Amino acid sequence: MNRVMKNYFIGSVLSGGGSSPGVNASAQEWIKMVNQFQRDALSTRLGIPMIYGIDSVHGHSTVYNATIFPHNIGLGATRDPELVKRIGAATALEARATGIPYLFAPCVAVCRDPRWGRCYESYSEDPEVVSSMTEIVTGLQGDIPSTSPKGVPYVGGKTKVAACAKHYVGDGGTVNGINENNTILSRHGLLSIHMPGYSASIIKGVSTVMVSYSSWNGDKMHGNRDLITGFLKGTLRFRGFVITDWEGLDRMTSPRHANYSNSILRGINAGIDMIMVPMKYKEFIDDLNQLVTNHEIPMSRIDDAVRRVLRVKFTMGLFENPLADETLVNHLGSHEHRELAREAVRKSLVLLKNTNSMLPLPKKGSKILVAGAHADNLGYQCGGWTIQWQGQSGNNATVGTTIMDAIMNTVDKQSSQVVYQENPDTKYLQSEGFSYAIVVVGELPYAETEGNNMNLTIPEPGPTMIKNVCRAVKCVVVVVSGRPVVIEPYLKWIDGLVAAWLPGTEGQGVADVLFGNYGFSGKLSRTWFRSVDQLPMNVGDEHYDPLFPFGFGLTTEPTDDSN
Ligand code: BGC
Ligand code: BGC
Repeated sequence: MNRVMKNYFIGSVLSGGGSSPGVNASAQEWIKMVNQFQRDALSTRLGIPMIYGIDSVHGHSTVYNATIFPHNIGLGATRDPELVKRIGAATALEARATGIPYLFAPCVAVCRDPRWGRCYESYSEDPEVVSSMTEIVTGLQGDIPSTSPKGVPYVGGKTKVAACAKHYVGDGGTVNGINENNTILSRHGLLSIHMPGYSASIIKGVSTVMVSYSSWNGDKMHGNRDLITGFLKGTLRFRGFVITDWEGLDRMTSPRHANYSNSILRGINAGIDMIMVPMKYKEFIDDLNQLVTNHEIPMSRIDDAVRRVLRVKFTMGLFENPLADETLVNHLGSHEHRELAREAVRKSLVLLKNTNSMLPLPKKGSKILVAGAHADNLGYQCGGWTIQWQGQSGNNATVGTTIMDAIMNTVDKQSSQVVYQENPDTKYLQSEGFSYAIVVVGELPYAETEGNNMNLTIPEPGPTMIKNVCRAVKCVVVVVSGRPVVIEPYLKWIDGLVAAWLPGTEGQGVADVLFGNYGFSGKLSRTWFRSVDQLPMNVGDEHYDPLFPFGFGLTTEPTDDSN
């Protein structure tokens, strides 16, 4: 029995990044934990069910054995909203398999500078691509009935979840891509670049909106009454609830939590309805009570918040079905979902260079060198927000197929030989007589501020390896990264160049396309810069001189099985 739920009438509980009931917890263990919180909530005076939320930002990504889909930057490259809708539906089922009905997704950020540590959470630098990808909302929540009034949240039953469009608004527009920083932009710019994803999500019935840590022209979004109450609830007619980010009110001041009571006052009077307070909930509740007793926060504001939270809970059917449906457990990491993720990986790959039609690669009669730490590292290919908040290295944190496994599964075992050398030396390269090499290099996992990066270089030994391997052997370089990285200096040595983004657990999708079972079809959802001093540089800019422009992507045809 959890006294906190009972004594403080907690209306919502979350798992932060990496927060789970235990290492490798099963769906049943998740259900047990969530149901316990729920039983405690139901045992309170009014018995209002709590709503449990989690960051399932590329699949149900905190949970062991979940299907991990490509991060949003890769999904943007597919230009396939219908695919993304199916991913939403699969993610909803996997979340429900663990008893969780509320997801802090999708991120509808429009990343305008790849130096931003969250660039991979953004579908695109282009507001239109981001808007089209809000189709994921209908996958997560179900298709909103045509009779539904605009702005009213919709959740289509026990296999669907409440979604959250985040981070409102302008999170991807901060100066130099610095996380949680200041977006300096005219109102017109804010509305035309960063707002369309919210309008599109609201039309599709998104249940909640999360406020951004960032500021707009120097004012913290968490205190922006004009944009939260005025624009979101007024102009856009949003009827779901508005939630803060994690310690979002604390971060309204610098240093954090400096004038907390005042931050609560500003945040709630700005129109925020649910407050994410991971630790100091007693202080929050006391301060809030005080502010209401003193009439600094009007009762009408509390009523509005309560009405919105209840509306979402009613819409979700939480009152009818507060506890998990245990018949759904087998959806977690199901074969069907993994096949869907594999399809998404195939469609997300962007072919940037293909000298002498080196790709697709032959499966037969080849001696193939595979090099680079990212070739055989599930953690690296999944990136941040995977099991742990910051992601991790290695193949043990969850279940999936590395790119190396996938290559082995795909080549002809009779006539081809695959050799993996993480970092082969020059002598070895010259002595072995390889037909070609596949070099898989890229960024190391990160999330949020830890991912801010002002140079965007591939960490060593990546660049040196590209140089050594590609000068000695015909080579394909596969870049595993959350954004465009510095590649121009090495391009002259590379025969085939593939941007694989952060593909997730289904590495088989990479080999499917490298070896021609499917053609390349992905298109850059971002501008690929020549050098970082060009940044920020986005499609439509006056001085646009990219290495590869927005929308670029070579195509190949699938080959028959005899190659
Ligand atoms: C992130 C949000 C996330 C929240 C809860 C914050 O740090 O900015 O995107 O939903 O944590 O984990
Ligand atoms: C949590 C994340 C959260 C972050 C914010 C981490 O400890 O696990 O969910 O986004 O803190 O700083």
